[in-house]
Amino acid sequence: MNIRHAALLALTLACANAHADDALYEQFGERAGLTKIVDDMYDNVLADPRTAPYFDNAPVKRIKQKLVEQICVLLDGPCVYTGRPMRRTHEGQNIDRAAFNALVEDLQAAMDKNGVPFHAQNKLLAKLAPMYRDVQDRE
Ligand code: HEM
Repeated sequence: MNIRHAALLALTLACANAHADDALYEQFGERAGLTKIVDDMYDNVLADPRTAPYFDNAPVKRIKQKLVEQICVLLDGPCVYTGRPMRRTHEGQNIDRAAFNALVEDLQAAMDKNGVPFHAQNKLLAKLAPMYRDVQDRE
């Protein structure tokens, strides 16, 4: 393969990849679908005794808006996250593994309700899982 072929191949792969990422964001229904999923997730979180206490007096509108931005970025959608860093936001809230898993289940239920395909759900969950280390409570 000469250098021109290699460059062309790299470009083709980059485009295919960009397309795959667009597809993930599309599978969440783009901005409108994602907004609905975050609304439903928040309803679930407030109805869930494992997570509700954390959200007493929390700024609902702001959190929803920042969550939509953040998940959109994780899905490689055309968004910018304008919220606070995860670590600083969740500091001192005593979030443990049980609370984190509960919130993830509440998100899964919202994705199911809105018809997000299973493999697309898993792609998002795989990106959220490592964020546990930023939201957990540390001494
Ligand atoms: C991967 C998991 C999580 C993500 C991506 C996430 C994301 C966010 C975002 C984007 C905000 C708003 C940031 C801002 O105001 O600029 C926020 C705030 C908040 N999150 Fe999370 N969060 C996660 C896990 C959790 C868990 C497990 C809990 C508790 C069960 C939790 C409780 C809260 C609370 C109470 C606030 C409001 C804090 C305040 O403004 O005083 N979060 N989160």
